[in-house]
Amino acid sequence: MFPKRKPHSRFPLIPISLLIAFFSLFILYYYYMKRDSHFNELSKTSTTLQCSSQALALTEKFMWYAPHSGFSNQLLEFKHAVLIAGILNRTLVVPPVLDHHAVALGSCPKFRVVEPKDIRISVWDHVLELIRGGRYISIAEVIDISSLVSSSLVRVIDLRDFVSIWCGISLDLACSNDSKSRSSASKSLEQCGSLLAGFHGNIEKCIYAVNEDCRTTVWTYHIDGRENGVLDSFQPDEQLKQKKKISYVRRRRDVFRMLGPGSEAESASMLAFGSLFSATYKGSESYIDIHESHQDQRFLSLMEKIKFLPFVPEVMNAGKKFAKATIKAQFFCAQLRLLDGQFKNHHKATFDGLRQKLESLRQKGPLPIHIFVMTDLPRDNWTGGYTSSQETNCSGLRREAVCSCASLGFIGTPGSTIAENIELMSKFGSCST
Ligand SMILES: *[C@@H]1O[C@H](CO)[C@@H](O)[C@H](O)[C@H]1NC(C)=O
Ligand SMILES: *[C@@H]1O[C@H](CO)[C@@H](O)[C@H](O)[C@H]1NC(C)=O
Ligand SMILES: *[C@@H]1O[C@H](CO)[C@@H](O)[C@H](O)[C@H]1NC(C)=O
Ligand SMILES: *[C@@H]1O[C@H](CO)[C@@H](O)[C@H](O)[C@H]1NC(C)=O
Repeated sequence: MFPKRKPHSRFPLIPISLLIAFFSLFILYYYYMKRDSHFNELSKTSTTLQCSSQALALTEKFMWYAPHSGFSNQLLEFKHAVLIAGILNRTLVVPPVLDHHAVALGSCPKFRVVEPKDIRISVWDHVLELIRGGRYISIAEVIDISSLVSSSLVRVIDLRDFVSIWCGISLDLACSNDSKSRSSASKSLEQCGSLLAGFHGNIEKCIYAVNEDCRTTVWTYHIDGRENGVLDSFQPDEQLKQKKKISYVRRRRDVFRMLGPGSEAESASMLAFGSLFSATYKGSESYIDIHESHQDQRFLSLMEKIKFLPFVPEVMNAGKKFAKATIKAQFFCAQLRLLDGQFKNHHKATFDGLRQKLESLRQKGPLPIHIFVMTDLPRDNWTGGYTSSQETNCSGLRREAVCSCASLGFIGTPGSTIAENIELMSKFGSCST
């Protein structure tokens, strides 16, 4: 259903001439290594990790982050990443779609989250797993970022391309048949991963690893940096502080002031964030609180662009085809999240909303009412209806597309990021285009 990996032309931001330059550098480097492999061995074992010379030779600066949880969360993080990369004028390294909940963050309101460097390493390990399993799909093969890229508001590079340039190693080596080349590759891949995760701290000019997370920081962005350093309104309460021995204070930090020009991070080739997930809790954003109040035109255009990033046409078409060929009628879509975490306690509200909606449809329209139900409850628990369990692989995404094509309307579980995404798709008429 998805095209195989596209050539560099999909990420046309590294000009060919630059690539040729990297390539020649790489060959020189390789030649040098061959000639003096003894020296090379020595330098590898006796020094700590370093950026390779080809990485340091790049004038372009990069940024990556740790995507996690379900697809909708990954999409939200991706949007935040695009925004921050745009603000900081760094090329965003575009990650793959991670397996559903293969990497988890924890809970921000409970101040119980995985450390940024640990979540980055988990993401790296999972990326290798996806490559080995032949299941690597870039998020840019699912989400259509072509208009974002052509607007030149932000530059992007595929993670695999980035790794081959920056670490001088092809990720495809992870699945080499030959055990000898695989084991030598696995060592280089491990080093590349530790470096990118900032596992051994910051390295001058090479990597700046952001260690702030939602326990200590809410990222903001204002032209005058006015909120930089002030306390956020949401803080751990006394009970939590005592129970968990928490000494954290949450501060609002201006992303441009802290990590942009003039900061310690500025000169680093790579800026590594941890999670970029954020949600509102008790009236406060858990981690990213960047809004349109800013005056800069470029920033406002970027904000506008990331409001809605459509699925690629392949996914939308699959959804439309299903609606047309299988449901064959006007239908209503209900997305019911019933089993997972916070949603367990809201069954009544969820079903009350659905009941009201169906009642009004029954009074207005022709019968029967066809309903497409998207749920995390196993198929056996439903009788009738076009149900499908909610899992985020390609068919899971197709389901969101089906839902956005529901001509009789849509109701989702309040607070679910999937529901928000479907509402956006409907609002922007992505089914009809
Ligand atoms: C943004 O980064 C690019 C590439 O490194 C550079 O050419 C350009 O001058 C930068 N723009 C600003 C406003 O700093
Ligand atoms: C890898 O191994 C499989 C089975 O062992 C073999 O069929 C295949 O041809 C090998 N591929 C390469 C590129 O050597
Ligand atoms: C789903 O069905 C199974 C068996 O058919 C039942 O044991 C389980 O309680 C049901 N789950 C819910 C949430 O209704
Ligand atoms: C995708 O998810 C569906 C359930 O929604 C499952 O039946 C199917 O096996 C999954 N496919 C893959 C390739 O994981």
